[in-house]
Amino acid sequence: MTDLTQLLADLLRRFASDADAAGSAHALESVRIAYLGRNGEVTKVRRTIGTLPPAERPDAGKAINDAVAAMESRLEAAQAALESSAVDAELATSIDVTFPPIAPQVGSIHPVRRIIEESCDYFMRHGFAVVVGPEAEPDYYNFDALNIPSDHPARESFDSFWLTDGVLLRPHTSPMQIRTMQQHRPPIAIVAPGKCFRRDAVDARHLFQFHQVEGLLVADDIHFGHLKGMLTGLCRELFGPEQRVRFRPSYFPFTEPSAEVDTTCPKCRGDASGARCNLCGGSGWIELGGSGMVHPNVLREVGYDPDVYSGWAFGFGVERLGLPRYGVDDIRRFINSDPDFLAQLS
Ligand code: PHE
Repeated sequence: MTDLTQLLADLLRRFASDADAAGSAHALESVRIAYLGRNGEVTKVRRTIGTLPPAERPDAGKAINDAVAAMESRLEAAQAALESSAVDAELATSIDVTFPPIAPQVGSIHPVRRIIEESCDYFMRHGFAVVVGPEAEPDYYNFDALNIPSDHPARESFDSFWLTDGVLLRPHTSPMQIRTMQQHRPPIAIVAPGKCFRRDAVDARHLFQFHQVEGLLVADDIHFGHLKGMLTGLCRELFGPEQRVRFRPSYFPFTEPSAEVDTTCPKCRGDASGARCNLCGGSGWIELGGSGMVHPNVLREVGYDPDVYSGWAFGFGVERLGLPRYGVDDIRRFINSDPDFLAQLS
């Protein structure tokens, strides 16, 4: 019996020092397994009970159980101590509230989208509807119905991407004039924003894929003054109240008369005073697109009587509008997806 008492005292001492040394919950668990586990130290001691005289066995069993209880309560205490020191450690870490944060990258509406939205807002306020249509169109909508028959040289100037024999990626949004007029009777007042495609070499002023905003107003007694008024209003909306608009005689098969539309350069205001303005090249004007009075042949094509109805149409390049709108000198910036550039415009 004294042997056993000695053995247990020894075991408890070793257990205590191992438990104290355990610096983590994991290490503590290893200590528990080593002593109290199925094949642990205590089990070994229990097995010796059988070698004792029967009279001594109950006391031996009790002594071992007492030792186990002591070990278990010590384990519990050690575990509680570990947990509270972990909490203390966490509380002790100080947070530097002055440390500069890592700012999240915030997206913004793309400038091209924004110009489309601003232009559509302006026309919607004046009673126009926004319509969108297909980007691949039969040549009928792109050309024939717009008074450009198959032998007309104007087809060449559209530098089209043909998909199949009779279908191409639309080089302008004007097909939406035809689609809308085929489906509705006058009065017609629409804007049609969207993507266009041309086999143009890319440079500071050209992209092979770009956006246009098309406008169409057809009713009775519509005249060129209405066109001038609406486009002047659009430019003032986009670029500021001082903005002026200039119409230069031009040619489009689907309008007569036709005009190119320019607006005053918002950067130099035509006052480059000898120094060349990098936005307008010193001319003081920026070209936005084409316009004119809807050609009688186009009205006839959709079953409108040109003696009763008249109308105007225009098609502006959205990226072109973006140059003066944002004071950007190169149209390619709009498609480079450079976050620094886009963030500046947002
Ligand atoms: N569709 C013409 C172009 O892309 C622009 C335009 C539209 C001209 C409407 C007149 C009327 O060049």
